[in-house]
Amino acid sequence: MRHLMSPLDFSVEELDRLLNLASDIKSNPAKYAHACEGKKLATLFYEPSTRTRLSFEAAMLNLGGSVLGFSSADSSSAAKGESVSDTIRVISCYADICAMRHPKEGAPLVASMHSSIPVINAGDGGHQHPTQTLTDLLTIRAEKGRLGNFTIGLCGDLKFGRTVHSLIKALIRYPDIRFVLISPEELRLPDYIREDVLRKNNQSFREEVRLEDALPELDLLYMTRVQRERFFNEEDYVRMKDFYILDKAKLTLADPDMLILHPLPRVNEIATEVDDDPRAVYFKQAQYGVYVRMALILTLLEVEVC
Ligand code: NCD
Repeated sequence: MRHLMSPLDFSVEELDRLLNLASDIKSNPAKYAHACEGKKLATLFYEPSTRTRLSFEAAMLNLGGSVLGFSSADSSSAAKGESVSDTIRVISCYADICAMRHPKEGAPLVASMHSSIPVINAGDGGHQHPTQTLTDLLTIRAEKGRLGNFTIGLCGDLKFGRTVHSLIKALIRYPDIRFVLISPEELRLPDYIREDVLRKNNQSFREEVRLEDALPELDLLYMTRVQRERFFNEEDYVRMKDFYILDKAKLTLADPDMLILHPLPRVNEIATEVDDDPRAVYFKQAQYGVYVRMALILTLLEVEVC
């Protein structure tokens, strides 16, 4: 039995197979419509979510399976003090696979150690978000035509943004990727990623504060919001929250083929006037998230569709 805690849990070849499966699902949805009949997905969300939870649910429903779960800690026995390990033991009796989001880093890993069903990390604190990374990889591959040989700007809250942490770990395995890390001083990438992931792997990267200084050379721009819920005080958040605002005027500095990604939700960091720009693919990205989660469920449940 396999779980998904980090994008590195899959080899590059396995990821290729998974992304190919997601592309086939996109082209032939009817072929997969009954693949998970009789199977149940549990979504255990101890933290707010719109896309991740609902795209997991849509994915399982599209595969003919059913879903159960909770969308906040208050509405589960966590409010009575139940541990994650007890909860997962019980959920293992009710469902065939589970997606868990938790504010504590490592909580899904603890769950996986006590689970008799596959556990998917749907975001653990400021740590990792592997299924968003699968979504990002599929989006880049589908919209750019390749995974590798590009300069990607990661912009915003690189300190607390788990989507960025997971994406960096995944991307360093592809050839010729140059990272430009764009953040305010206070929200720089944590040392454990800069040193242990980027430097240790001799990965090309540089850090910038001004988005304008990076924009002209980017093939991809990955915007993120400032992670309000991870700040210790509101004043710091208020000071940081509008540090970056991508608007039409700034986009004149960018390459006409540069893609703009965002895991969403967006707050102010991308002006809505950018949404109609053909380079903006963040809403498409949310759609790719359903195909990739369908592919992931099939892979972890070892369901083959001929
Ligand atoms: C992200 C997350 O939860 O980390 N959202 C998502 O799953 N698409 C990004 C965010 O909340 O900023």
